[in-house]
Amino acid sequence: MAVQISPSILSADFARLADEAKAVEGADWLHVDVMDNHFVPNLTLGVPVVESLSRATDTPLDCHLMIEDPDRWAPQYVEAGASSVTFHVEAAAAPVRLAREIRAKGARASMALKPATPIEPYEDLLPELDMLLIMTVEPGFGGQAFLDIMLPKIRRTRELIAKHGLELWLQVDGGVAESTIERCAEAGADVFVAGSAVYSQPDPAAAVRALRAKAET
Ligand code: DX5
Ligand code: ZN
Repeated sequence: MAVQISPSILSADFARLADEAKAVEGADWLHVDVMDNHFVPNLTLGVPVVESLSRATDTPLDCHLMIEDPDRWAPQYVEAGASSVTFHVEAAAAPVRLAREIRAKGARASMALKPATPIEPYEDLLPELDMLLIMTVEPGFGGQAFLDIMLPKIRRTRELIAKHGLELWLQVDGGVAESTIERCAEAGADVFVAGSAVYSQPDPAAAVRALRAKAET
């Protein structure tokens, strides 16, 4: 399992997005949190901003859609330039069809679980996915405390991935920092989203390197 770091621009300065994207070059992905004020009580950005960002950086975009009706909107994010698109299973009407559509359009298909959503009902869907995102905070805001109670779910998911012999990546998002990333890696996560832990630092690229070093130990 190769460690990958995906800094979240939710904690960046939205008036300087191109510069903020460049500030983390060297990261594997740029995590773009799309929120619609309905699925979560916060509003961020949409397709036009993703389109502009994809032109402004060479780092592939990892779009995390915290929106209602992803069946309708997710394909547009692939067209806008996202290399990976994550939808929430709680919001998707037809997750298998949606994952297939994302893949058919040429992006990696990923499904997210809120903290109270168990993995077990979705075991049979895993082969349809390129990544599974386990939220380690309630989605909606950056800067929240990491939920240690999610560690058993990360561990059980890693076991299911191994049982089925899948290449699926396992992403964690929320409260990931130098103080929590080792626990996530030990439980089986391999893709790490970090917002405040990266963009609150004077040198965001150095923060990415520090997180990577911790996850690899
Ligand atoms: C929260 C978002 C996260 C957020 C994480 O709902 O999905 O990607 O940016 O922020 P931190 O790393 O500060 O918890
Ligand atoms: Zn996110």
